[in-house]
Amino acid sequence: MSLRSRGQELPSIVVPPPGPRSRELAARAVAVESPAFEERRTSRTSRSGTDQAPIVYARGEGSNVHDVDGNRYVDLTAGFGALVLGYGPNPATTAARAALDDLTLALGDVYASEVKVRALEALAGLHPEPGARVLLGLSGADAVTAALKTAALATTKPRVLAFEGAYHGLSHGPLAACGFAPSFREPFAAQLGIDVTFAPYPDEQAGDLDRSLASVRAALGAGDVGAVLVEPMLGRGGCVVPPDGFLPELRALCTEAGALLVADEVWTGMGRSGALIASRAAGVVADVVCLGKGLGGGIPVSACIGRGDVMAAWGAHGGATVHTGTHFGSPAACAALLATLGAIADGGLTSRATEEGARFRASLAAALGERRVRGRGLMVGVVLADAAEALAVSRRMLARGHVVLTGGPRGDVLTLSPPLTIASELLDDAVQALGEIVRV
Ligand SMILES: Cc1ncc(COP(=O)(O)O)c(C=O)c1O
Repeated sequence: MSLRSRGQELPSIVVPPPGPRSRELAARAVAVESPAFEERRTSRTSRSGTDQAPIVYARGEGSNVHDVDGNRYVDLTAGFGALVLGYGPNPATTAARAALDDLTLALGDVYASEVKVRALEALAGLHPEPGARVLLGLSGADAVTAALKTAALATTKPRVLAFEGAYHGLSHGPLAACGFAPSFREPFAAQLGIDVTFAPYPDEQAGDLDRSLASVRAALGAGDVGAVLVEPMLGRGGCVVPPDGFLPELRALCTEAGALLVADEVWTGMGRSGALIASRAAGVVADVVCLGKGLGGGIPVSACIGRGDVMAAWGAHGGATVHTGTHFGSPAACAALLATLGAIADGGLTSRATEEGARFRASLAAALGERRVRGRGLMVGVVLADAAEALAVSRRMLARGHVVLTGGPRGDVLTLSPPLTIASELLDDAVQALGEIVRV
C-alpha cells in the first residue's frame, strides 16, 4: 500500500498534543463521565512522571486519525484492534451505512432480516464441521457470555477454567473469568456467580508450558469444569504467544474431561494474528469460538459460534432458554460483518498480517533488541522496563504523531495493533520513532 493512498499518510503535528481544543473537551468529559478514567490518568501521571492528558479525536481515514486541534496521527491501535480495515470509508462502513438506510432495525430473534440470515450462514461456515450454530451479540463480552452460558447448558458443569493475564470483557460473566487484573473483579466478587479457577498462561519465551498444563490437569481432575476459556494469544494481557503445543494439549485435556474448549478470538480472530481463527491455525477445533472487535470492521457486532451438538443444548428447554438483545444481529452490524469478511478475503489480509507483522517485528527487534518484541501477525507487543517507561514512551510517541497503547497486567508492554491495511512505510516510520525514543 503506497503512502500516496489517502489515509496512509505520515504524522503531521501542528500543535503539541494535547492542544487547547482537546484539553477543553477533555475537561468537559471529565465532568460527566465515570471518575475512574480521570483517576486512572492521574495515577498514571504520577507513576510515569509524564502528563497523560488525552487528545480528542475528530475524524479518521485509513490508518490516520486526526484530533480536534488539527494534528494527524498514525493509529497503531486501530480502536483497540477493531478497525481491521482502518477508518472508513471502507467496505464495512459503506455496507453498514446502506443497511441503516434500508432497514434500520429488524426484530431480533422474532423477525430476522435477510442480511442477518446471510451473516449467520457465513459465520456458521467458519466452523469446519456441518451443523454449527451462532449467537450474535454487540460486544466481545456478549460473545463470551453466550459461550459461558452454552457451556453451562451443554455440560451442566458449573465451573470454568480461565487463565491468569487473560481478558474477556467486563460484564459479569466475563469479569468472573478475568485473569488480567484481580482488582477488576474484587469489588464485585459478591455479584460474580461463576466459580472460576485460574491457571498460569504459558509464554513461548518463558518455557513454562508444563507448569501451566499441570495446573489445568489439576483443575479438570475434579470433573466439574464445563468450560476452558482461553485466548489463543493474550491480547490485552500483553501480546503473549503460548508455545505451539499449548492449544492442542488443552484440546486433548478438554475432550478427556468432558469440558468445552472455548476459544476467545475477540482479539486474535479476523486476521489480526494472521488467521481468521487463530486456534484453527494452531491445528485445533474449539467447541465454541468467540469473535468480536474486528468482526464488524469497527461496527459493534460479535458472535459465539458453536459446534452443532453443543449448541443443541439451547433447544432443550422448550424454548424457555433464549439469549438475545434488542440490537443483536441488527442489519447494519450484519452487513458490516459480511463486508469485513469479504474485504479480508479479497485483500488477502490474513496473509498480509502474517507477512507485514513478521517484517514489522523483525525491524522492531533490530531496533530495540529481540527480547523486547513478541506477537503474531499485526498483534505486536514491545516489552519495556516497567509501566513508567511504557507510559513515558507512549506519550513521546503521541507527541511525534503515533497513537499506541500500553498493556499487560503490569502495564509494561506497548501493544501495537494497526489496521491490517496499514502502509508498510508507516510501520517503518513507527519503528524509527520507537528506536529513537526507547532506551536500548
Ligand atoms: C480477548 C478479548 N475478549 C473479550 C473482550 C471484550 O470485548 P468488548 O470490549 O468488546 O466487550 C476483549 C476486549 O478487549 C478481548 O481482548
